[in-house]
Parts: sequence; C-alpha cells; structure tokens
Amino acid sequence: MGVDMTALVLAAGEGKRMRSRTAKVLHKVNGRAMIDHVLSALALCPIDAVLVVTGHDAESVEKHLAGRAVCVRQTEQLGTAHAVMQARELLVGKPGHVIVLCGDTPLLRASTLQDFVQRHVESGAAASVLTAEVPNPFGYGRILRNAMGQISKIVEEADADPATKAIREINAGIYCFQIPPLLSALDSITTDNEQGEYYLTDVIPIMLDSGLPVAAKKVNDAEEILGVNNRRQLAAAEQIMRQRTLDGLMDAGVTIIDPAHTYVQAGVQVGQDTVLYPGTILEGETVIGRDCQIGPGVRLIDCHVGDQCRLEQLLAIESVLGNGVTAGPFTYLRPGTRLGDEVKIGGFVEVKNSRVGEKSKIPHLSYVGDADIGAGVNIGAGVIVVNYDGKTKHRTIIEDGAFVGCNVNLVAPVTVGRGAYVAAGSTVTRDVAPGSLAIARARQETKKDWARKFRHR
Ligand code: UD1
Ligand code: CA
Repeated sequence: MGVDMTALVLAAGEGKRMRSRTAKVLHKVNGRAMIDHVLSALALCPIDAVLVVTGHDAESVEKHLAGRAVCVRQTEQLGTAHAVMQARELLVGKPGHVIVLCGDTPLLRASTLQDFVQRHVESGAAASVLTAEVPNPFGYGRILRNAMGQISKIVEEADADPATKAIREINAGIYCFQIPPLLSALDSITTDNEQGEYYLTDVIPIMLDSGLPVAAKKVNDAEEILGVNNRRQLAAAEQIMRQRTLDGLMDAGVTIIDPAHTYVQAGVQVGQDTVLYPGTILEGETVIGRDCQIGPGVRLIDCHVGDQCRLEQLLAIESVLGNGVTAGPFTYLRPGTRLGDEVKIGGFVEVKNSRVGEKSKIPHLSYVGDADIGAGVNIGAGVIVVNYDGKTKHRTIIEDGAFVGCNVNLVAPVTVGRGAYVAAGSTVTRDVAPGSLAIARARQETKKDWARKFRHR
C-alpha cells in the first residue's frame, strides 16, 4: 500500500470475568493464545510494527510475545484511551496510521482487517470505526448516527439511555486512525462518564468537532468481532473457530463424519478424500495425506501421515508414517517413531524413537523402544525390546526379513541379523547372526505320569 501503518493491540485489562490466574489474552482458542490469533491476522496486513499494551500479568504476556511485538506497560488500567496514551512516545512524530484493536477478539479475519485498513486509507478519514449489527448488543458501545447516516458518537452501555440501548449497531473496538489527529484528540479526553474511565471512543466526537472526517464500516460477519470476556464466550469462540477449520477441510475434499465430534487445529493439513471419524483430534503441525481413514478415537500431535493409512484408536506424537500404514486399535506412537510404507502396528503396541521398515508387522501387545527394524520383519505377539538397563537406553537392531517369535525379550544393545529367527519365549542378550536361529529359553522337561501320582498323594 506504501503507507506507514502501525498496529496497537490493547491487552492490559484484567479480564476479571474469566476468573483466571492466567492473563486473558493468553487463554487459548483452537490451541493458540487469543493474542496470537490477533497477531496472525495482523501479520497478513501491510503493517510495519506491532505494539502491544500490557498491564495485568504483564510479565507473562511480554514473555509470550518476546521478539514478536514491542510492548508498552500500562501500570494502572484507567480506560482504553489511557491504554493508547501509553504508546504516545512510540507514535509521536510518526507519519501514517495506527490500527487499534483488542487482544481478546480471536475470530477477526485477516481479510476483514485488510479491507478495513484499505478503506480507511482510501477514504482520507482521520478515524475509521469497525462496527457490527448484532442481535444482542448488551455490553457493547452503541453507534449513534446523524440524519445523514454518518457516525456521530459511541455510547457505552453504562452511559446509555433506553433508546440508545435499543440500537443494535455496536462498536467492535477496532479502529484505524491517522496518528497526528489521534494524539491531539487524546489530549482532550476526560473521565466524565459513568465508569470514570478514559474512553477511546470519545475521540470520535472530538475529531468531528474539529471538523475532521470520521468513517464507520460495518463488518459483514458479526461473529468475527466476538470479544471474549468470560469462559462461556471462550467456548463460543472455540466452537466457531473449530467449525471454520472443519468447513475449510470439507471444502477442500475431506469427509468429516461428525463435525460436532472432530477437533482440528488451524494449520493442520488433510489430503483429499481422507475420512475423519468421530473422536479425531488433530493438533500442531500435523499433515495427513490422501485417502486415509482416521479414527474413531485418534489423536495426532505434530505427526506426518502418508496416503491411504488407516488409523483407529491411537495416540501419536511427533511421528512420521509412510503410505498405507495401518495402526490400532489401542496403539501409542511416541516421539521419534518412523514407520515405512505398509507397516502394520496392531493392538496394544507402543513404539518409541524407532524406525520400522516397509511391510514390517508388529501386530500384538509389544513394546518397541530405541530400535531400528528393517523391512519385512515380523514381530510376534508380546515381544518386548528391553531398551533400558536402569541407567542408560541402548539401541536394538533387527535386520530385514527377521522373524522374532512370540514373547521374546530383546535385551539391548543387541542385533538380530538379516533373515534370522528368534524362537518364542527367548530372552536374547547376544547378537543373532544373519540366517541363524536363536533359542534362549529353558529346555522343557516332561514328567511322565506325574499328575496321577499327585492327585492320589
Ligand atoms: C470497549 C469499547 C466499546 C466496544 C467494546 C468492544 C471503550 C470505552 N469501549 O468496551 O465501545 O463495544 O470495547 O469489545 O473503549 N484495555 C486496556 N487498558 C485499559 C482498559 C482496557 O488495555 O485500561 C484493553 C482490554 O484489555 C481489552 C480492550 O482494551 O483488550 C477493551 O477493554 P474492555 O474493558 O474489554 O472494554 P469494553 O468495556 O468491552
Ligand atoms: Ca471487551
């Protein structure tokens, strides 16, 4: 746009109604702090610098924002205009505009902000206010317009008479200002109102009185400006954000059997024709390929899943799965798990920090930790990789085509060579050469006629 644009995010308020020991703007919606949603929307706008006004629990908020925004403290919260005044030093002498918004409106879309900023700049207004028409305006500032339909004033709930309270056009709390007239208007603001606060909204009539043009732009989707003041609104925001993410996936060709019971964080990618069953939770940097069946009951955190995988009743964290992998039910894949194409991991199996080569199978009741398993390996039921000696973790290597019988303990560090067999029930402590058979169990003894004698004792 070629215009100087600064953003100022107000985040000093206490957020009393949250009844929380955590700063309001750090409460999460769809897995991310509310203020991060606001910063993400701003990041897609042509903005040169982001300033954040902190106050209540400033240390946590500033720590959270470290390196991403310049913070200014408001030690006493005397109102929204007072909050803006705290940034005076950083704004004075700057040309251009400042967009002022709140840290507790996580649903605001970048496109809405971009459009608002552009219209403001093009209009030449000294101030632009974003407004919304809502069914229940309670608690918001009401927009008063003159006979020409132009904004004249904003009246807070506490200061409104019954006729004003009936107005359903409200102040979203998002503004664009030309910096010099904003700074001079702030000087004229008083606390002459019901709440004894410095209201930022008072700059509107002040500017109009000085003959400056002021604009108001109504947002299309009033949902976007929902301000989160309590935990109910937090849940409402969560619900809306979740539906948006799911709608995006469905529009891109993903089937979601029951959106009310599917949870996908923004940023997760899911390929075409993949089906998400109820109870699916996809988080973090997770990426899923095409034609997969995910769920019921699957939680993936920072996982990469290939195409045509079938996962059911499983928790996986920081794991990478190739194409055509089947896993579950009741499977736990811990960080560092790498499964090759067409690997099968069955019920009650836990895998950690291990590679499993293509077409290998670990179908039943196993623990595999710190192991490198080749391709085409069969791991029998109940095999345990004994990776920890009480002090250190050691690695186990199972080469291509090996067959490990049921109920085997592989005591690391140990290698089972290519194509070797390990007899069921063995506890293997020494390397097994390629192509050989290892039996490491007590030889069976059978006492003839023992049972009859025992019974007639
Ligand atoms: C404000 C607006 C109201 C608008 C509503 C939209 C004023 C006077 N009123 O009311 O017209 O409809 O937002 O949600 O501006 N903050 C500070 N320091 C302060 C006071 C507030 O940083 O001293 C921050 C809060 O953390 C919050 C934002 O400013 O992020 C808005 O404050 P809040 O008290 O929620 O204002 P509302 O009463 O909701
Ligand atoms: Ca508010």
